[in-house]
Amino acid sequence: MYLLLKDILNMAEARFSMEGCLTPRLDAEILFCHMLGRDRTWLILHYGDDLDDRTCEEYFKLVDIRAGGMPLQYITGSQEFMGLTFHVNESVLIPRQDTETLVEKALIILNEEKTAAKNLRVLDLCCGSGAIAVSLAYYLKKSGRKAAITATDISHEALKIAEENAMINGVAKQVCFAEGDLFEPFRKGRKGRGRVQFNLIVCNPPYIPTGTLDSLMREVREHEPLNALDGGADGMDFYRRILKEAHLHLAKDGVLLLEIGYDQGKWIPLLAEEERVYGDTEILKDLSGRDRVALVRMAADRD
Ligand SMILES: C[S@@+](CC[C@H](N)C(=O)[O-])C[C@H]1O[C@@H](n2cnc3c(N)ncnc32)[C@H](O)[C@@H]1O
Repeated sequence: MYLLLKDILNMAEARFSMEGCLTPRLDAEILFCHMLGRDRTWLILHYGDDLDDRTCEEYFKLVDIRAGGMPLQYITGSQEFMGLTFHVNESVLIPRQDTETLVEKALIILNEEKTAAKNLRVLDLCCGSGAIAVSLAYYLKKSGRKAAITATDISHEALKIAEENAMINGVAKQVCFAEGDLFEPFRKGRKGRGRVQFNLIVCNPPYIPTGTLDSLMREVREHEPLNALDGGADGMDFYRRILKEAHLHLAKDGVLLLEIGYDQGKWIPLLAEEERVYGDTEILKDLSGRDRVALVRMAADRD
């Protein structure tokens, strides 16, 4: 029996809806396109085509995997971020659109007049897929800016994906990678300072409180790496550690940009103040109006 392409898309859509998928039709279409290596324009033009049994079988295998909770991006192996394509697998967090708020702010800061003349040094801590570091490198290169970008992560597997993404997006020479626990690759500088003084440090750390991990969507909980999510008892462990040490690795007028959870904006200024080396902290909102990024500058009178 032959089925039409539009019929099996409808069947997949119904199945995904039943499983609580948020974008059932889109997922059904993207999966089919992925399987045949076609784009969605092709799909629309061929809705009325007959499909042979083999194609249907192959498609329904993918539908089963998706309906079983595997994120679409881990099946297709890719995610768009900042207009670029990133390879992803289960070793890395799928880059979120919310994180574009941080990247856009970082680009504004790096293009400010006072930093414009410098050979910039940028650090992306907890780089995962490399979404932040690679996007910054790509857009800085495009605008002719010189920047040395370093991206670090504790996960060896994540760093392999990040390196691949730097290559895919043509910035392999602009980004170097280091494996380690937060600032560990940069300690051993003079007078307790870090080996390198960065103009900008960006970080999207794990920030979900351990006790709420179980309430995350099933596909996040069961497939995205736990060490990309778990921020300790109150979700703030990484912010405490980063704020304690970031000043040792920031240039005099350096800036620290942290992605934060929507309910964490009130705590970051307090943590920063406790360190007595930072100036005022700004909390920036994302497109849905929620707190999303903390901007921490070095205090003006720091020696
Ligand atoms: C929330 S993900 C962010 C990934 C990526 N920057 C993004 O925005 O899509 C956090 C990342 O932190 C890494 N990580 C967890 N603990 C770490 C540690 N102690 N030191 C460095 N990286 C760590 C994880 O491997 C994961 O890749």
